[in-house]
Amino acid sequence: MDINELKEEAQQALEDISDPKYLESLRIKYLGRKGEVTQILRSLSKKSLAERKKVGKAANQIKQELNHLFDIKLKELKAATDQQINLDITQPGARVQLGHLHPLTQVENQIRKIFQDLNFSVIEGPEVESSYNNFDALNIPADHPARDMWDTFWLKDFDNLLLRTHTSPMQVRYMRENKPPFQIIVPGRVFRYEATDASHEINFYQFEGLMVGDDVSLANFKYVVGEFFKKFFNKEVKIRFRPSYFPFTEPSVEVDIQIPGKKDWLEVMGAGLVHPNVLKAVGYNPKHYQGFAFGGGVDRLAMLKYGIDDVRLFYNGDVRFIQQF
Ligand code: DAH
Repeated sequence: MDINELKEEAQQALEDISDPKYLESLRIKYLGRKGEVTQILRSLSKKSLAERKKVGKAANQIKQELNHLFDIKLKELKAATDQQINLDITQPGARVQLGHLHPLTQVENQIRKIFQDLNFSVIEGPEVESSYNNFDALNIPADHPARDMWDTFWLKDFDNLLLRTHTSPMQVRYMRENKPPFQIIVPGRVFRYEATDASHEINFYQFEGLMVGDDVSLANFKYVVGEFFKKFFNKEVKIRFRPSYFPFTEPSVEVDIQIPGKKDWLEVMGAGLVHPNVLKAVGYNPKHYQGFAFGGGVDRLAMLKYGIDDVRLFYNGDVRFIQQF
């Protein structure tokens, strides 16, 4: 084929093309190492000098022209497809704002999980409670000075209803409905009628624990609480019991922990053996059953875990704080 015919053929083929996929094979067909234009240029070595000069010059020119046309076509096709999908991949994307669980929910979930792994059942109860469950059945009669330990929000117009001041009334509700042996954990919100400061809120979260059987002792509690804090802080924490007083336990203790590398002992829980009067109030025979109970603050543990010094930060809704968890 004559070199000029070849040029026309290539130009025509180029015009017809609309898919960039075929552009490269077309380029190879004409301009590749074994392409038709290339072959004409190669075959020149066998030709006479005069012929070589004439055809060689023309063929080189055509090669350049075709190369240029292929480049233009490639740009055209690329621009067309970009427009089709209307996408500029160099443009930054719009960031999607993801929500997440509140730090207190995260810590509560962790507490639930650890106790579940220790074979405790997770139970929940009402925030509005009877004064009987919140106080009387827990061995705190109306005239008992210990009632002052819990400043109470009473429900207006409802006799003897209150916002629970602790999760302990769930001990009463659960024992009334179930027979030992069992071990439960009760996370939940509690309310106190008091002035707020860095370590007090009018509502906060507690978790109550209760294990009852015919042979349950404080030694069992020491093991459980040790396992709990080891898993919660992911460290071998030291546990210390200090004598204390709660109306619903006898003996009563405060649980202190010492985190490795830290000097201070931290008070983290109240606990004790369930008082016989409480067992009687729920219809158990204290001669047959005994158990331990404990109560801790979710907020308090979250503060220790994350080094937070003001409990009010959890409740004021400042996203700059919340977003850090
Ligand atoms: N209910 C107590 C409080 O809110 C905490 C507590 C102490 C719970 C000792 C217990 C316990 O179960 O045995 O201050």
